[in-house]
Amino acid sequence: MNAKGSGSLDALDLANRRVLMRVDFNVPQDDKGAITDDTRIRAALPTIQEVLKKGGKPILMTHLGRPKGVDEKLRLDPVAKRLGELLKQPVTKLGDSTGEATEKAAAAAKGVVLLENVRFNAGETKGDVELAKKYARFGDVFVNDAFGTSHRDESSVSGVARLLPSVAGRLLEKEIAAFGAVLENPKRPLVAILGGAKVSDKLLVIDNLLAKVDALIIGGGMAYTFLKAQGKPIGKSLCEDDRLDVCKAALAKAKEKKIEILLPVDHVVAEKFEATAKSKVVAEIPDGWMALDIGPKTRELFAATIKGAQTVVWNGPMGVFEMEAFRKGTETIGKAVAACSGLTVVGGGDSVAAVELLGLASKIKHISTGGGASLELLEGKALPGITSLALK
Ligand code: 3PG
Repeated sequence: MNAKGSGSLDALDLANRRVLMRVDFNVPQDDKGAITDDTRIRAALPTIQEVLKKGGKPILMTHLGRPKGVDEKLRLDPVAKRLGELLKQPVTKLGDSTGEATEKAAAAAKGVVLLENVRFNAGETKGDVELAKKYARFGDVFVNDAFGTSHRDESSVSGVARLLPSVAGRLLEKEIAAFGAVLENPKRPLVAILGGAKVSDKLLVIDNLLAKVDALIIGGGMAYTFLKAQGKPIGKSLCEDDRLDVCKAALAKAKEKKIEILLPVDHVVAEKFEATAKSKVVAEIPDGWMALDIGPKTRELFAATIKGAQTVVWNGPMGVFEMEAFRKGTETIGKAVAACSGLTVVGGGDSVAAVELLGLASKIKHISTGGGASLELLEGKALPGITSLALK
């Protein structure tokens, strides 16, 4: 996996050039519009700063949310303000991302420019080529640093990359290198940890990883469909009955390939899906109870496997970590990943949130800025935002 054909920022002479850059500043906001987590803005700073240092003019584009047309609540003014604070220099935020007057204003402005939310434009999410041509007029070269959006074949991501000399930014390079180190020739043992609510979200990931890993740990809500497929009682735990056959097939494939699939051997069960619900630890889930976390023996078993790994990739929590009573599983696994001396990569919104909540983020080697994008890499898919990059 590499930024095919694109080389990197090193391959471009940036002095006095307009550097159109796709970033992923799709950040969470509270009801007043205040940014509650600026990780994605911080993650793009090295590329922006490098462009500035090399005498280029960064003209940034991003989406925010999923608007259908112009949505006042999703304008990028708070993002521009936060970016300016982090860069310690003013950022010129313009009113749209396609107009000729805006194009002139972008070229004339001093320092960093941020265009308005690209998803205000009809055709953006459909990858409209005419729209991509309008964006392309803003830059002499194009840099994709929006890893989190690189699985989208959209006008401001792959569309414009096909029209201008285009390279990967430093964040995109870092993400590609981390997932490349997991998926291509990893140091072994390679252990993947999958969790989260639904098996159906991870079927392609399981299939792809079974061809690569030495052990696959499965926890969280998705584990119970697997346990039911093995004929175990799961009470009223989460289950996707229409996926029992695929779980059986995955278990058979693992057996044939001699890959260990580790499933929970004990559980923290509750009577209801509530933070204060009555709960207990059991080896077998009784009727009328639901498993909301992995139990102590499972925590030990999973942690021991992680300890022996040279490469670990983790996507999805082990239980309902948002509720303190059901956090221990995710916490123990998070600590085991943090303590692992090998390469550790965490991707996916919920597992990243868990790692941050538990104060473990600084101990993980790579925390991905992409949820959907990292999942698609784990599924073995090529991302259009990467494959479209080329020096022309
Ligand atoms: C994300 O938050 O995963 C990315 O910014 C992509 O957003 P999208 O799912 O709305 O395309």
